Amino acid sequence: MLKGRNLIDPMDFSTEELEEVFNLAEKIIENPDKYSKIGEGKLLATLFFEPSTRTRFSFEAAMLRLGGKVLGFSDANSSSASKGESVADTIRVVGGYADVVAMRHPKEGAAKVASMYSEVPVINAGDGGHQHPTQTLTDLLTIRRKKGEFSNHTIGLCGDLKFGRTVHSLVKALSRYKNNKFVLISPEELKIPDYIKKEVLIKNNIEFVEVDRLEDVVDKLDILYMTRVQKERFFNEEDYLRLKDSYVLNEEKMKLAKKDMIILHPLPRVNEIAAEVDNDPRACYFQQTKYGMYARMALIAKLLGVCE
Ligand code: NCD
Repeated sequence: MLKGRNLIDPMDFSTEELEEVFNLAEKIIENPDKYSKIGEGKLLATLFFEPSTRTRFSFEAAMLRLGGKVLGFSDANSSSASKGESVADTIRVVGGYADVVAMRHPKEGAAKVASMYSEVPVINAGDGGHQHPTQTLTDLLTIRRKKGEFSNHTIGLCGDLKFGRTVHSLVKALSRYKNNKFVLISPEELKIPDYIKKEVLIKNNIEFVEVDRLEDVVDKLDILYMTRVQKERFFNEEDYLRLKDSYVLNEEKMKLAKKDMIILHPLPRVNEIAAEVDNDPRACYFQQTKYGMYARMALIAKLLGVCE
């Protein structure tokens, strides 16, 4: 039963519960009209203490397409946080106005704290460099539609694996399915954090390698997940400038890749995928954003309990 639950970490839902969300997302994709009123009378609050275009619009579009309404802010300076209000107090108030809350915050753990004080479901829309579970729903729904299953894949994750919260959430989620192998492609300074390596990969005996050259491994991959170097999480500009151009996926490298490999990217892209790759049939990142909206529609409907 997902009604009334929070989604803070990708592991908060069992694989069966995820399946429920994806089955509903697929039904919505087939017949969106049937679901266009199920959210009537319900209110989603989007509390975005950190910049976003896609994720916030995706949540808002999802709620509006269910027939619900939205309110919120997209800039911490326009909220009482700028007066020093705590997340706990903000959520106690907003939880009294809205039926479900999506929150993005620069501090790791902020959504978890919010969920402890909220009377309504809280969805983590990204907490610092930590987790981003609804991006994972987006990624998984795309994988399901393009590849048919979540098992038996060699998944390359490339770029900023240290600060990239979407990477952390996706590795966690995919680690629960059989026979997946991970190829972690990053410069030394941006390697995946130990808590993911030790607590998720090593602990569950999952095969993985860490490499620093994309061209050496791209031919082995079924899924390539590209990410941007997370400028805003660097402590100094110099390191960012040194690392920002570490990877560029271009036509040349795509020639080495399998014919049925899929390229995913949570977006926004900076320069890590050359525009010339966009027309390659293996490039799925723009379709992925659309699936994200459907995944969020299904999630909101389940948390509100307005759908079987
Ligand atoms: C990602 C994020 O915010 O973590 N974007 C998103 O939600 N679509 C990735 C990023 O900002 O690089």
